[in-house]
Amino acid sequence: MKTGTILITGGTGLLGKGMGETAPKGVKILSLHQRDYAVEDDRAKHIVLDIRDKAKVDQLFASHDFDAVVHAAGIASVDYVERHYAESLESNLVGTLNVTSASRRAGCHFVYISTNAVFDGRSAPYAESAALNPVNKYGRLKAECERLVQETLKDYAIVRPILMYGWNHPVCRPNPATWILEKLMRGEAIQLVDDVFENPLYNIQCGEALWQIVRRRLSGTFHLAGRDVVNRVELGRQIAKTFGLDAGLIRPVTSKAFPDIASRPPNTSFVTRRMEKELGVKPIALEEGLGHMKAHARVKT
Ligand SMILES: NC(=O)c1ccc[n+]([C@@H]2O[C@H](COP(=O)([O-])OP(=O)(O)OC[C@H]3O[C@@H](n4cnc5c(N)ncnc54)[C@H](OP(=O)(O)O)[C@@H]3O)[C@@H](O)[C@H]2O)c1
Repeated sequence: MKTGTILITGGTGLLGKGMGETAPKGVKILSLHQRDYAVEDDRAKHIVLDIRDKAKVDQLFASHDFDAVVHAAGIASVDYVERHYAESLESNLVGTLNVTSASRRAGCHFVYISTNAVFDGRSAPYAESAALNPVNKYGRLKAECERLVQETLKDYAIVRPILMYGWNHPVCRPNPATWILEKLMRGEAIQLVDDVFENPLYNIQCGEALWQIVRRRLSGTFHLAGRDVVNRVELGRQIAKTFGLDAGLIRPVTSKAFPDIASRPPNTSFVTRRMEKELGVKPIALEEGLGHMKAHARVKT
């Protein structure tokens, strides 16, 4: 195994946290994020750098010799992208252009983090070769970034994680699991949709799979997901069960109850054969992932 430096852009996000927690011994991680906060972390060095700033990105690559770049930074909230498209274009598309250009010149292995949102959700389950047809602006931007990577780089992998859950870094946005958990712990009633399906991915498994790709310098496209295909109501009920909370607070609704948010593809669940066979990571059941979260709880339940 190589022991060089790996750059993770957006390393304080949920995916970056999963990578940090599963990092092989001896690997040096440089992680960047955009907002000005300090991170206590004995597994990675963290710096503040906005990837929209081409000169700063170029400077970073001039002063380091990266073996691989895992590019996860960007605006990952589907609804934020829908409402703030100009800002999202800069972060997600211009930022990706800056990072891919610097990586190409440096000749490092590039891992682009895409999403299940590149699919329209009408022909699940999706294998890596399925045709892209995003239904919202976030998905369209990610599909465009995939094309940018494919057309400008040689040594790359495209990784599409599906809806992720796990303990996020406290400074970063909550994910569906931590959001539901906090609401149920406060005894608040919540509406969850029963017509959007995914096979949710535990961020720790995401990290394990990504390290296989980085360590073995793999190329191609990989779908990462968990074992169970569920809608958000089923996700919420499993969270309630695992953490011993009141599932009666969950009110099932359809997506029509949220007319103001971006369209969601109805079922983007993934085929995980490549993840299992080529990466050697067997997707775990939702119950197991949530059980692991509970065992490593950062909050008292
Ligand atoms: N979470 C999911 O369910 C999911 C599912 C499928 C695909 N993905 C993809 O996985 C990747 C990571 O998602 P995530 O959920 O881990 O993200 P996240 O928790 O929202 O974190 C985003 C990260 O990107 C950084 N970032 C944003 N704009 C930046 C900029 N202009 N310059 C530098 N850093 C910037 C953020 O830094 P600050 O904290 O400083 O803002 C943060 O570290 C994304 O590409 C997303 O599209 C996520």
